Amino acid sequence: MRHLLSAADLDHEQAVKILDTAEAMAMTQSQKVKKLPTLRGKTVVNLFFEDSTRTRISFETAAKRLSADVINFSAKGSSVSKGESLKDTALTLQAMRVDGIVIRHRSSGAAYRLAHAGWSDVPVINAGDGEHQHPTQALLDTMTLRRHFQGASGGDLAGKDLAGANVVIVGDILHSRVARSNVDLMHTLGAHVTLVGPPTLMPVGVEGWNCDFSYDLDAALATDPDAVMMLRVQNERMSAAGGGYFPSVGEYHRAYGLDHARFEGLPEKTVIMHPGPMNRGMEICAEAADSAKSVVVEQVTNGVNVRMAILYLLLAPEGGLL
Ligand code: CP
Repeated sequence: MRHLLSAADLDHEQAVKILDTAEAMAMTQSQKVKKLPTLRGKTVVNLFFEDSTRTRISFETAAKRLSADVINFSAKGSSVSKGESLKDTALTLQAMRVDGIVIRHRSSGAAYRLAHAGWSDVPVINAGDGEHQHPTQALLDTMTLRRHFQGASGGDLAGKDLAGANVVIVGDILHSRVARSNVDLMHTLGAHVTLVGPPTLMPVGVEGWNCDFSYDLDAALATDPDAVMMLRVQNERMSAAGGGYFPSVGEYHRAYGLDHARFEGLPEKTVIMHPGPMNRGMEICAEAADSAKSVVVEQVTNGVNVRMAILYLLLAPEGGLL
């Protein structure tokens, strides 16, 4: 494997290898080894055509902790605002001899196009393309869940997967690349996933996905989940698509929010996940977001570990993802 474009491209062995490598990266960070020399002399470009806080900063942090040089490109303030295409942007980067490209783009398939159109001959990492995929988010989510589900940490996790884990993912499934990526990866790793959301925010064809789905949050929460992942309602994608469903905050929170009563009713073992950014008071109450059951901050930390692992496996001469 030369690129990381979709969580669906990873088989069980590759997924476990990435998670084990991320644990090794976490070990170096916990031992206060701030920088590894692994990617010294390499240049990574963060090519972001869509806004980001966590993903862009954690890719930059990950690359710098591996001693790579990092160029941050944001569409705002670049020649993209003058009409430059993805192709010409990619050819410009190619001419500057970068070693790897991390791309976030509003269009589904943009990362695949960049990897396979012949505009670039370096590894491409998908940092989120439209409503399609966000594979490193799924990897950091599974790293976080594996730690909690397996009840161990560090080297004890080596080789383990998520077989038997029960995960409920709630919210705007229709527009969520996080939901799609997690269904793919968690299924590969043996977890059972149930997607929950209003019928208007459930994708056509969800019956064919490797998961269950429901419109009833309380019924899904009664299945003794190991993790509940709350998702944001992506109003910006509904406007862009000219369709979708704009619930009021109160209406949505009552039917699909992790409110006080639902939070209080969660089993002891259940962890609360959220990829961010959170809309407190809509999909999740502040009490749940700030509780001891919330692993949202751990997810962010694991994002750096997972992205270090991916950059190492794809860019280091000895990495060898396959
Ligand atoms: N989870 C996630 O992708 O967050 P950002 O949009 O802030 O990168």
